[in-house]
Amino acid sequence: MMHKQLLLGVLLISFVHADLLIDLPDGTIRGYETTTENYTYYAYRGIPFAIPPLGNLRFQAPVPNAPWDGILDATEAKDCCISTSFSLSGPAESEDCLYINVYTPARNITEKLPVMFWIYGGGFTTGCSTDIFSGDPHPLVTEDVIVVTFNYRLGLYGFLSTNDSVILGNAGLKDQLLAMKWTQKNIEYFGGDPEKVTIFGVSAGGMSVGAHIANKKSAGLYRAAICQSGCSLTSSALTSQSDPKQVAYDVARSINSSISENSEEIRNFLQSQPADVLSNAFSANSQAGPVIEVEDDDAYITDRQFGLIESGNFNQVPLLMGTTSGESLTFYGILLPELIVAALAYDLNPQYLIPTRLNPLPGTDLTEVGELIKQAYTNQSFLLNLASFVEFTSDNLFVRSSLKQAELQSNYSPVYFYQFSFSGTLTHIHATVEGAGKIGHGEDVLYLFDIFPLTTDEELLTRSRMTRLWTNFAKTLNPTPDESDPLLNITWPQVSGSNIPYLDIDTTLEIKPGKKTNEMAMWNKVYYTYGQQPFIGF
Ligand SMILES: *[C@@H]1O[C@H](CO)[C@@H](O)[C@H](O)[C@H]1NC(C)=O
Ligand SMILES: *[C@@H]1O[C@H](CO)[C@@H](O)[C@H](O)[C@H]1NC(C)=O
Ligand SMILES: *[C@@H]1O[C@H](CO)[C@@H](O)[C@H](O)[C@H]1NC(C)=O
Ligand SMILES: *[C@@H]1O[C@H](CO)[C@@H](O)[C@H](O)[C@H]1NC(C)=O
Ligand SMILES: *[C@@H]1O[C@H](CO)[C@@H](O)[C@H](O)[C@H]1NC(C)=O
Ligand SMILES: *[C@@H]1O[C@H](CO)[C@@H](O)[C@H](O)[C@H]1NC(C)=O
Repeated sequence: MMHKQLLLGVLLISFVHADLLIDLPDGTIRGYETTTENYTYYAYRGIPFAIPPLGNLRFQAPVPNAPWDGILDATEAKDCCISTSFSLSGPAESEDCLYINVYTPARNITEKLPVMFWIYGGGFTTGCSTDIFSGDPHPLVTEDVIVVTFNYRLGLYGFLSTNDSVILGNAGLKDQLLAMKWTQKNIEYFGGDPEKVTIFGVSAGGMSVGAHIANKKSAGLYRAAICQSGCSLTSSALTSQSDPKQVAYDVARSINSSISENSEEIRNFLQSQPADVLSNAFSANSQAGPVIEVEDDDAYITDRQFGLIESGNFNQVPLLMGTTSGESLTFYGILLPELIVAALAYDLNPQYLIPTRLNPLPGTDLTEVGELIKQAYTNQSFLLNLASFVEFTSDNLFVRSSLKQAELQSNYSPVYFYQFSFSGTLTHIHATVEGAGKIGHGEDVLYLFDIFPLTTDEELLTRSRMTRLWTNFAKTLNPTPDESDPLLNITWPQVSGSNIPYLDIDTTLEIKPGKKTNEMAMWNKVYYTYGQQPFIGF
């Protein structure tokens, strides 16, 4: 009897902590079986895909990891990538952060599953594959796909550039590229299909997806893409760092004022500094993001993305993309008074309405163009019509560039556009403005990953629908392949040029016609009349 209990105990333990060994080309890893919300799946976390980017690898393109002997323990997430001196209390951060995680259904490999490769957001300065913003991917895995998450370098560790071959820049994007290559080489050992990889990301992660789409050097590493609130034309290279060399120089000088402008000296000096000194200096000079690199064999981005997308010179994969209904609330409207002050500033200074990406032609009357832009949103003041201010600022941040990309890319590949409007109990960390959308930037991610527990039936239904649409697209390149699926009961039409029907994801799913047609007509007119070509973004 006693014996039997003991045996049962051992069996239970081995069920819960079942050893999952996989032989990868570089060595053997041990993952684990885990259960969340009654769903059991396999996880392999903290697999190195690059040599730790320390010492003279700091700021440089990642180097693929070397093979190992014995069994590598892949049962715990590794540190997040360090960025600024300020860190949300959460997972530990370090420079040694280039690790990848794979989550699969608990099953024996019979047929190869589609793979979803997640690139987190966070403005290229924060974010992590395992923090509260990415959460647990089991809601997607439940739909029988494999989910891959990983860390890429942030802040100056990922994006410092001397605008020459000394520090080319875009190390963080090159980390993403290497992680995609790792996925091609390894995912079949997890039961994944390397020919069915979809890359997806939110915000800076969406812009990263966009950067890969616009870059032939990533061709063949994925067959579909999803851009959530950010894509190729959003925060384009050149706008996140107006003068990268100056940023590098300022960071170095803020640590030692006698550093010269010589790129080698800046590199050698900054590579010799402890991480906490660098992170402090970056916090005080914080500008980081993709740059246009000088021509070099190791350069990744060397062209402006607008022209590439417009001319069809990009990876013409199917694209699912969209935005939330009130993007800008996250930036202007945490508190209503903040929003009011911002609206007033734009009322008093119409030239503020001109996007940096427009790069106006010399001699442009900025006030006049600002007024022209405003008329598409309101003929009153923004102050008296706050909803129109939310619309304008949301378009300015993420919506305009996304719609323009949908229009341009649909000339070459299928594009599906959505708006996420569902307002659950979790999504009110900002003001509500009468007549405006309610959902701020990035809030759709709460329904793809398990970040906070969902409580209401409507929230759970929204998660089921989102994960079904996203995984349908990963499986079949069509988010609604089955008209009779009772969960969706809808056919999501493709974008066709400037006609942009979209799926509104609210308490119901509904196809709506022509998103922002008037506003986009105005923006096209303004860009093509007053903007300097080639455009930086849109
Ligand atoms: C898990 O299963 C138990 C027993 O069937 C049930 O009571 C519980 O509500 C389930 N929890 C979730 C999150 O589905
Ligand atoms: C995998 O196959 C083995 C041997 O056929 C079987 O014992 C085991 O239950 C299977 N596991 C799963 C998760 O289906
Ligand atoms: C970077 O350097 C190139 C020439 O090497 C120059 O044409 C370009 O303007 C520089 N970029 C910036 C942002 O300063
Ligand atoms: C600052 O840089 C100068 C020039 O490279 C060097 O001589 C000096 O020792 C440095 N000072 C400190 C405190 O690192
Ligand atoms: C503002 O007025 C102009 C001219 O009458 C009109 O074309 C435009 O649609 C109006 N804007 C809004 C947002 O109603
Ligand atoms: C599906 O949508 C159609 C048309 O909107 C509606 O008539 C039908 O009742 C819906 N079916 C289900 C199962 O919701």
